[in-house]
Amino acid sequence: MTSRKPAVLVTGANGEIGHSLVRRLAAGGANVVALDVREIDAACKPLCSATQVGDILDFGMLQRLGVEFEFTSVFHLAALLSTRGEFQPELAHRVNVEGTLNLLRLAVESASSSGKAVTFLFPSSIAAYGIADPKQRAAAGRVREDEHLAPQTMYGCNKLYGEHLGRYYTHHYRRLAADQQHPVDFRSIRFPGLISADTVPSGGTSDYAPEMLHAAARGEPYACYVREDIRLPFMAMPDAVDAIMALATAPRASLSTHVYNIGAFAPSAGEFAALVREFFPKAELSFSPDVLRQAIVESWPADVDDSRARRDWGFKPAYDLRRTFSEYLVPGVRRRYGIA
Ligand SMILES: NC(=O)c1ccc[n+]([C@@H]2O[C@H](COP(=O)([O-])OP(=O)(O)OC[C@H]3O[C@@H](n4cnc5c(N)ncnc54)[C@H](O)[C@@H]3O)[C@@H](O)[C@H]2O)c1
Repeated sequence: MTSRKPAVLVTGANGEIGHSLVRRLAAGGANVVALDVREIDAACKPLCSATQVGDILDFGMLQRLGVEFEFTSVFHLAALLSTRGEFQPELAHRVNVEGTLNLLRLAVESASSSGKAVTFLFPSSIAAYGIADPKQRAAAGRVREDEHLAPQTMYGCNKLYGEHLGRYYTHHYRRLAADQQHPVDFRSIRFPGLISADTVPSGGTSDYAPEMLHAAARGEPYACYVREDIRLPFMAMPDAVDAIMALATAPRASLSTHVYNIGAFAPSAGEFAALVREFFPKAELSFSPDVLRQAIVESWPADVDDSRARRDWGFKPAYDLRRTFSEYLVPGVRRRYGIA
């Protein structure tokens, strides 16, 4: 028996996804413990049972949280993203791999004292893919979960290994007791680029799409760092958070794998810019490709096959590209920047 308070842990709670996920979990009545290396936003704090400023590499701090709370689920969002990871690859490895291992260890400790497996949600990425050249990329079409897994960035290597760690802890790590389940129930989504009306991303390589939009809304010029014809899968943040919640609550028996692709639309950078201009006719958008970032994007698939997620846990995005703009992004950024 334990007197600890049941709670869900969200790491990286102050990030783009964290902002939306904390709101959703709190609205559903969860006791949220929000952890980030940066101070949690004042608007999010009242939604949480506790907030902790700390580094996921500090296992002692994580253990102290585990003494106070009985974590039933961990939403492990904290990471160094793809562009930043290429500038500091060893640091990216430490945060993305050792940090993930620390959270898995914490989940094992929570499961061991409660006797129940801890659900572990891990946002992976299309960066886990690595496609050798443009010819192969064109031929690859909508890539399945088990294809083209030779990532070309440290972040992608870290994400792919994080998926393997999760599979190991779910299926091969020692059981809670001889006749019982394994301590961790790991579930992962390979997210496409995400676009939020409420937050401006930083450090990712698919950031050009949201950056174009936010710059246009602020009335600032923007030079896109990838070529106009490059195509990538994207989705709106509300669909991403819906997907996390749907996978987290899906019956274990319905899951045929530990990692799922999802996607909603796959515009070229030029098509995205055209929509930004339609809604913000004064937008000053240009294209000035950066060699490193263009190469990263070219190694990712132009689109993904998400039929497994649709079949196993009913993934179905509500927002196509036009609806994302007209009903979510444009009203959201107008509110954010006080545009009439
Ligand atoms: N946003 C996307 O387009 C996208 C796409 C695919 C996958 N993902 C994944 O989703 C997760 C969340 O992404 P995001 O867009 O919210 O990223 P983000 O960069 O906005 O947020 C990450 C958060 O983690 C925190 N953090 C970083 N290092 C930490 C550390 N050592 N200890 C504690 N906190 C730390 C940061 O302060 C930040 O608030 C990440 O794992 C990312 O890889 C995001």
